Amino acid sequence: MLREYIRALPKVELHVHLVGSASVDTVLALAKRHPEAGVPTDRGELARFYEFRDFDHFLKVYWAVQSMLRDRDDIHVLVAGLAGELARQNVRYAEVTVTPYNHVLDGMAGDELLAGLASGRAEAQRDHGVELAWVFDIPGEKGVTAGRETLAFALGERPDGLVAFGLAGPEAGVGRAQFAPFFTAAREAGLHSVPHAGETTGPATVWSAVRDLGAERIGHGTSAATDPALLDHLVEHAIALEVCPTSNVRTGQVPSIAAHPVRRLLGHGVVVTLNTDDPPMFGATLEGEYLAVASTSGLRHAEVAALAANGVRASFLPPERKTELLAEISAVPAA
Ligand code: ADE
Ligand code: ZN
Repeated sequence: MLREYIRALPKVELHVHLVGSASVDTVLALAKRHPEAGVPTDRGELARFYEFRDFDHFLKVYWAVQSMLRDRDDIHVLVAGLAGELARQNVRYAEVTVTPYNHVLDGMAGDELLAGLASGRAEAQRDHGVELAWVFDIPGEKGVTAGRETLAFALGERPDGLVAFGLAGPEAGVGRAQFAPFFTAAREAGLHSVPHAGETTGPATVWSAVRDLGAERIGHGTSAATDPALLDHLVEHAIALEVCPTSNVRTGQVPSIAAHPVRRLLGHGVVVTLNTDDPPMFGATLEGEYLAVASTSGLRHAEVAALAANGVRASFLPPERKTELLAEISAVPAA
């Protein structure tokens, strides 16, 4: 019953990486064309390839998949495939993270990337009724050069649907503050600030994302749960967390969903949104995230609806679209 209720709720997805959204079938097809990438071509072997020893191992696997994407058609297949999957789960809108600097390093022309994003986004709307927006993010491990190049690409191209500027990759040894000038420029140009922080390191990284990068939402932010003053700050400033519980389990950040700090975050009044991060790599779906959190935390229907509403409010949709979606959420019968 809860499952049907979650299905019926209109939902938004605010934290999903385009590369990490590639379906198993798409990855298998790419792997056959690009044996040099070392990605398995067999379903069972791919499942084992997706068993991550730790976060750094996960990133290596993610980069191997990324390296197989070469042109606009590859990007289109990913975007359209993601939209189809979102539509099946009644996800109406998604802010999708794209890392232009990495694609260009892997040999894709910037124009090819933009063409694939645009055609995929048009198909998402036309064939699936799913609205997509983009977050262009800095791959933090590549330092300030990547920051400068990502900013230049984002502001120089400014494709339709670009709403935010992000920062991902490892956190340990990759201080958030070094990227402050790029986030300042992106915000001055009207992009929103949505860096990852507190996924693989402690609350100091979240503080830095807030203070140095002007974060309006935090990617993950899970370690904030250990710092009551930070939790108060997030509540006071309505800085939402993009919580991705299954991702955190699969990369070894928490032992289980039941042990995930999401309940503590909710208890403190933080604006929690639920997201998948890299869904087929983690065996995650957005419906599955709602179901797992609702069942392990014993949430009532109204509390599950509040999570969906948090996603809408924390999104960068225009106010009238938010109002429509919030009304639709309230109209879903709980029985
Ligand atoms: N790139 C893809 N998924 C990521 C994650 N969960 N954290 C940081 N970088 C990522
Ligand atoms: Zn992420």
